Order: sequence, then C-alpha cells, then structure tokens
Amino acid sequence: MQTGCSSCHNGINVGGQGVIERPGATLLPASDKGRYAVTKAASDEYLLRAAPLRNVTLRAPYFHSGQVWSLQQAVGVMGEIQLGIELSDKEKNDIVAFLNSLTGQLPKIEYPKLPTRTDATPPPSLGR
Ligand code: HEC
Repeated sequence: MQTGCSSCHNGINVGGQGVIERPGATLLPASDKGRYAVTKAASDEYLLRAAPLRNVTLRAPYFHSGQVWSLQQAVGVMGEIQLGIELSDKEKNDIVAFLNSLTGQLPKIEYPKLPTRTDATPPPSLGR
C-alpha cells in the first residue's frame, strides 16, 4: 500500500480492473494493443487489465506477453513502469513475500467421466 501498488491492484482479488499504462517496449507484444483491438478507440490503446494478484505465485510467466518468469523481476518492472521508482532488493523481496501470502488452496475440480463414444452414439443436438 505504501509503495502505491494498491492504487491499481485492489479489491477482493487484489486487481482485475483495467488501467491505461503502456508497458515497457521489451515487454510489449508488438501485435497486442490491449482493449483497442476490440473497440478501435485511441483512448483504449494499451488498456490492459491490472492482473489480479491472488495466487499470482502460481501463474508465471507474467504479463500479457508472458516475457517475465521471475516474480521478483515482475515486481521490479511494475515499480519502474507503473510507479516510476526503482525498488531496492529488500523492497522487492518484501513485496514478493507479501504476494506469497496471497497463495491459497485451489479447489479440486472433478470432471464427470463420460461414456465412450461409439457409432450408436447420437450426434450432438443443435437445440432444434
Ligand atoms: C498504474 C497501475 C498499476 C500499478 C501502480 C501497479 N500495477 Fe501491477 N499491473 C498493472 C497492469 C495493467 C498489469 C498487467 C500488465 C500486463 O499484463 O502486461 C499488472 C501486472 C502485474 C503483475 C503480473 C501479474 C500476472 O499475473 O501476470 C504483478 C506481479 C504486479 N502487477 C505487481 C505489482 C506491484 C508489486 C506493484 C507495486 C510495485 C504494481 N503491480 C503496481 C497495473 C499496475
């Protein structure tokens, strides 16, 4: 909160809202202009979703481009690009430790076992 991360990453999932901040050139996927691809409105260029940080430790690689594998590096990038500050190693480690605390247990999902398909299986109904 003191560093300013929570101005974008906030709420129940510690993120999930959209913000207009252009990522650095090395992380920018050349063909991905964010929401602009859908709306074609100039104001939506590079409007990307501020990723929710809940369970973030389980989700490398980071950012839309998937260019960053280390959470420590992702935190450093955020400091530089979104906040214009250079975080010390200690600050980055402290934030990573906090992000680790956002990792919870994922629910176990059991998929139903469907019967094997044979020639006698009726084709899918198209709802008519
Ligand atoms: C101005 C808004 C803004 C601020 C401030 C901000 N972020 Fe972000 N953050 C974003 C956006 C937008 C993305 C998604 C970027 C992308 O996917 O390319 C993101 C992505 C991330 C990711 C990668 C998540 C993933 O699943 O890929 C991490 C980790 C992260 N932010 C941590 C931080 C930390 C730590 C701070 C404070 C040092 C911070 N952010 C400050 C907007 C912000």
